[in-house]
Amino acid sequence: MKGIILAGGLGTRLDPLTRITNKHLLPIYNKPMIHYPLESLIGAGITDIQIVTGGKNAGHFLELLGNGHELGLPHLNYTYQQGNGGIAEALGLCEHFAAGEKICVILGDNILEKSIARQAQAFEKQEDGGRILLKKVPDPERFGVPVFNGDRLTAIEEKPKQPQSDYAVIGVYFYDNTVFDFIRGLSPSARGELEISDVNNLYLNAGKLEYDYVDGWWSDAGTFNSLQHVGELVRKTGANNPL
Ligand code: G1P
Repeated sequence: MKGIILAGGLGTRLDPLTRITNKHLLPIYNKPMIHYPLESLIGAGITDIQIVTGGKNAGHFLELLGNGHELGLPHLNYTYQQGNGGIAEALGLCEHFAAGEKICVILGDNILEKSIARQAQAFEKQEDGGRILLKKVPDPERFGVPVFNGDRLTAIEEKPKQPQSDYAVIGVYFYDNTVFDFIRGLSPSARGELEISDVNNLYLNAGKLEYDYVDGWWSDAGTFNSLQHVGELVRKTGANNPL
């Protein structure tokens, strides 16, 4: 399985912190943010990795990470997203890199206390389709939110005003190669972006979406509060710890 980290976007919710650097290079306790999703993938045994970035400071990723040798990687791949067309658009740039293999996609601002090795192994065993990860949160309206009928997942709503459950669909997604066909069929949402929740709904409607839960804490880092909060969590427990 290959790994993809989506680290583009303009980070407008963190302005002015993001005026002169990319959001994913901001510090989370003692490391730049991008280190955490890299460690999540490496901890799950995924070492063939591509980073999608964008904006004015894309070169800083190369200066920071180079070919990934300090992280124990033999090589790192990069690609560039023009503008702010959304998560699914950024992922669509990775079809060549994926080359038909299964992929694990992580949003560059998603940080986890525990390893995702267990979930990655479950997806390796899954014949095809997609797999999303859920976490109970106090503020689901900020995220993609799953809708259930009993244990059966029936839909995913992106940032609903009235969430139908207390769970967030976190920014770690497992997909087979169908994802690139699904992305080609998407239209921009009201915020002008190709939404990853639309991709997940296409898998769900095709009867090909499994779900699993996150072990330990999870947080994004895309707002002032979450950035501050996750730094505190990392200071206390570290991140990407083995189960
Ligand atoms: C994105 C996704 C959302 C997901 C979240 C996880 O939201 O659109 O479904 O729950 O990441 O961090 P964004 O932070 O881009 O608004």
